[in-house]
Amino acid sequence: MTTARHDGTSGQGADIVHLSGAWLPRGEALVPVDDRGFVFGDGVYDMTPAYGGRFLRLQRHLDRLRFGLEELEIDFDLSGVEELHHEILRRNGLTDAPMATVYLQVTRGVAPRAHHFPPRSTAATVYAFAKRFARTSADVWARGFEAVTHPDRRWGRVDIKTLQLLPNALAQQAARAAGAGDALMVRDGIVLEGALSNLFIVFGRTIRTHPTSNQILPGITRELILEISREEGYEVEERSTPIEHLSHASEVFMTGTTTEVKPIVRIDGQPVADGRVGPVTTDLHRAFMERVRRECGVPATALGSI
Ligand code: PDD
Repeated sequence: MTTARHDGTSGQGADIVHLSGAWLPRGEALVPVDDRGFVFGDGVYDMTPAYGGRFLRLQRHLDRLRFGLEELEIDFDLSGVEELHHEILRRNGLTDAPMATVYLQVTRGVAPRAHHFPPRSTAATVYAFAKRFARTSADVWARGFEAVTHPDRRWGRVDIKTLQLLPNALAQQAARAAGAGDALMVRDGIVLEGALSNLFIVFGRTIRTHPTSNQILPGITRELILEISREEGYEVEERSTPIEHLSHASEVFMTGTTTEVKPIVRIDGQPVADGRVGPVTTDLHRAFMERVRRECGVPATALGSI
């Protein structure tokens, strides 16, 4: 049986994390209080999915991490990071898991509190963990999910995957409080993305998502879904959507590493079209899972549900 523990682990299987070169049981991994990740949220992270022990587009996740490090001028050599991803799956017995995620964060390191950067010689702090991921069951997926709109109060560079997720957390909590699963971020009347996923809006056979800019995170799943949508013969538009257009949408879905392709059937208590999961979302979800199997080289049976 799985038991909850105070250190946040499940109590089932190994929970070995990586902290700046050391492999430790989660409860023994401790960060100095002056770490700039703790004091300022001064760092970046990424999360990569592995299906049947094979990473999906790890290179694209690392490209995004590199971009964030460069934008924030954090010196960190990414050369060992690919191997670290494989090693953390092995150490946690996740090489056969239908799905697992690896979280990796890099902060500017430990230095006495001062807003400006510490000396360049300050070593970055690296933290990684791996987690088994329970995929949504087919019957739950088929009923669809609810979302609420929420004012986007994030900073002006959300294209960088920084640790500063308080506005995302508040938005997600507001969704929870309203009995919904996801928050849709709205700024200046435009519905941009989710608090932890990208947003797609379907009008007939046209699939629309916000263009990459400083106002959304360029999701790796988003990129893959755009490729798949074109391959499947849909019209694809990267353009912004005023919030009032949601009421004309035939379907809405969200995408992300831990979201995969998630149908949204109610927004702010109103049904999207007829309030049922639509054919385009269903088709793209199937095509996405096919692509996962192909790119990761795993048989359908290795992936568990849907
Ligand atoms: N979230 N938009 C936001 C704001 C996100 O935080 C994420 C990812 C995405 C989707 O990106 P990708 O397809 O590359 O996962 C979009 C991660 C999973 C998280 O913070 O948990």
